[in-house]
Amino acid sequence: MIKTIKNNHLYWDGCDTVELAKEYGTPLYVVSESAIVKECQALQQDFIQKYENVRVAYASKAFNTLAMIKIIEREGLCLDVVSGGELYTAIQANYPAEKIEFNGNNKSLEELEMALDYGVGRIIVDSLQELHWLIALCKQKQTVAKVMFRITPEVEVATHDFISTGQKDSKFGIPLEEHILFALIQQAIEAPEIDFYGLHFHIGSQLDTNETHLLAAETALKLVLTIKEKFAYDIRELNYGGGFGVRYVEEDIRQPYRYFLDPLMALTEKFCQTHQLRRPTIVIEPGRSLIAEAGITLHRIGSIKEVPGIRKYVAIDGGMTDNIRPGLYQANYTGVLANKASEKATEIVTIAGKACESTDILVKDLALPKVETDDLFATFSTGAYGYAMASNYNKLLIPAVVLVKDGQADVIVKRQSYQQLLQNEVLPNHLH
Ligand code: LLP
Repeated sequence: MIKTIKNNHLYWDGCDTVELAKEYGTPLYVVSESAIVKECQALQQDFIQKYENVRVAYASKAFNTLAMIKIIEREGLCLDVVSGGELYTAIQANYPAEKIEFNGNNKSLEELEMALDYGVGRIIVDSLQELHWLIALCKQKQTVAKVMFRITPEVEVATHDFISTGQKDSKFGIPLEEHILFALIQQAIEAPEIDFYGLHFHIGSQLDTNETHLLAAETALKLVLTIKEKFAYDIRELNYGGGFGVRYVEEDIRQPYRYFLDPLMALTEKFCQTHQLRRPTIVIEPGRSLIAEAGITLHRIGSIKEVPGIRKYVAIDGGMTDNIRPGLYQANYTGVLANKASEKATEIVTIAGKACESTDILVKDLALPKVETDDLFATFSTGAYGYAMASNYNKLLIPAVVLVKDGQADVIVKRQSYQQLLQNEVLPNHLH
């Protein structure tokens, strides 16, 4: 059990969160290594060991830190990055470049060059422009790029609009229009600088039904067949993306990986058998599901304000700067008073952040025991897209991250300092 309660305190992977807050300060991200490992093992069981020719690339945008990348490598997963910064972090963690896949809808020339120089395993090309840049760079460097194309599979998913990516009107992927897609594929097949592996899609995030993955996979498989017929070319890999939903609040449904993957694999096998195709290697790219539920955030409660007859606002020492998801996607969270973890709820409060922004509300109308200043609030399921999306708005400092495991705690990201906040600021002479 990652979450336990002892002496009225919330424990996370064996660590007393009240002690963690005392030692490392707040706000504080606390991430359970055991929980991450459990997720990796579930993927091993439900996918990697169950099927031949499959791969999992952790979408590191959810939480890209040296320590996380080390865990991912140790647990036998590949890695997906989407920028020079994420790639640089992976390389600094000594992660093997050939196991890295590079996504992104607007990779710069510099980023592509970096990818080629490091020798990343796959570059997921998202546009014609990118393919041309890549061919030119490979010519220059006398090298060959291992390429997949991200397609837009034209499916509408049941999630927040802001995290839907597979619909026709999308900035991601190559449109299915034949004159666009097939022209690109032909160039990739013909260019000696390109080793064309296959197709990629990612339809959206935080999904709890498998139908849309299946629809998109069918589209991709039909393309595999068309490419064989039209170009006599065998697609070797298909990447079905990520998007597997997690549990933020009680009502959320957390489906096991096999709920998504078994039907996807069955569909793929059947299609390939029917059409006498060699089944391509299947890659998936989960981010959130590997790390979201492993993480919590600890905040200290400050001001408590009652708007008579309307609402009680309880303010924390962070908010949208360490978790922008409620403000950006109206995402729901829940939490507890970590120092009153076995006490019964007696009041309904709204947890407000400290940023100068009305949308900076972390949880609305939450039942808690009597809340007092200096209590410790723990928000659950903040491991994905929390630290990863943290900002310095209002010049608030980005919190530290502590990795916990069986009662041991290690800082994996130090708290930012005021000095660091100013390290890139320069006063021109005339303002001295
Ligand atoms: N692969 C690609 C190409 C992606 O664009 C993404 C997420 C993933 C994989 C991983 O998806 P996941 O398994 O994490 O759902 N900031 C938003 C999520 C944006 C996701 C963007 N792409 C949030 O906090 O909900």
